[in-house]
Amino acid sequence: MPATRSETEPTLADLAVCLGCRAPLRGRDACLTCGRSYPTRDQILEAIGPLVGRNRINAAFYDGSGWVRFRKWERLFLTLQGGARRARLQILRHVLAIDRPEVRALEVGIGDGDNLAYLPESWDVYGVDVARTQLVACQERHPRMKGRLAWAEGENLPFADETFDVCYAIGGFTYFNDHAAALREMRRVTKAGGPVVVADETPGMHHAGIGHLIGVPAIDAFWLRGLGLDREFVEMVLQYDVDPEAVARATWPSATSRNIWSRLGYCLVHPGIEASG
Ligand SMILES: C[S@@+](CC[C@H](N)C(=O)[O-])C[C@H]1O[C@@H](n2cnc3c(N)ncnc32)[C@H](O)[C@@H]1O
Repeated sequence: MPATRSETEPTLADLAVCLGCRAPLRGRDACLTCGRSYPTRDQILEAIGPLVGRNRINAAFYDGSGWVRFRKWERLFLTLQGGARRARLQILRHVLAIDRPEVRALEVGIGDGDNLAYLPESWDVYGVDVARTQLVACQERHPRMKGRLAWAEGENLPFADETFDVCYAIGGFTYFNDHAAALREMRRVTKAGGPVVVADETPGMHHAGIGHLIGVPAIDAFWLRGLGLDREFVEMVLQYDVDPEAVARATWPSATSRNIWSRLGYCLVHPGIEASG
């Protein structure tokens, strides 16, 4: 029987390179050049160092019970945007603009894989995330993702230059630890001309909260925690003073930026293929 495409395509470990010296790992669990170790557990390649700053808080939140509690609000948000399919296709149309049956794609911050349903099955999708439990859940929901996932940061991707035809991050980007580094990495691992797409909710929505409106932000901390967010995550949200779109404009001067989700979100597309409509 002829091998299926997924059997012939490389696993993520075959594609991975050392984060330190960029030597190809070729499926080995350590770099032959510098000796750095890259264990694989549960078929997930571990290419990550100690997490710091917002990425540490992100991983704790998405790995823990906070995300489980909060998720219903994310689903409600997407429902109010016309449903998950419509809301996600506002972004994924720029990914799908590549319009070829055989595409090697990378999702940064893949979570448990909600976007996979909207991409052609013939595409070879790989994913990274800082939250290991999300990667395990992704494999459980989508068995074809076994061997396709790495525990890694968007800011430090374990791939050679121009490994993927397209790269995208949907949700989570606003609170990435280092936006410029993640944008540079996503561009680096994507082929020249291939689209790189980043979308998330606009930061600062809590400024419309009653606490901010009457000058008592502690009230907003209270209801944000009531939605399920961890204490540390809420502190991060309230102290946040970055404009990720401004960082993107500085890092990717030729990117296009669009409002999505009734102007509550943004979608950045680094040139390559422009989606129509
Ligand atoms: C809101 S979830 C979105 C998951 C999926 N992309 C989706 O659209 O349903 C955000 C994901 O980004 C991950 N994440 C956050 N910061 C990250 C970073 N710096 N690098 C990689 N993943 C990150 C989180 O762990 C989480 O799984």
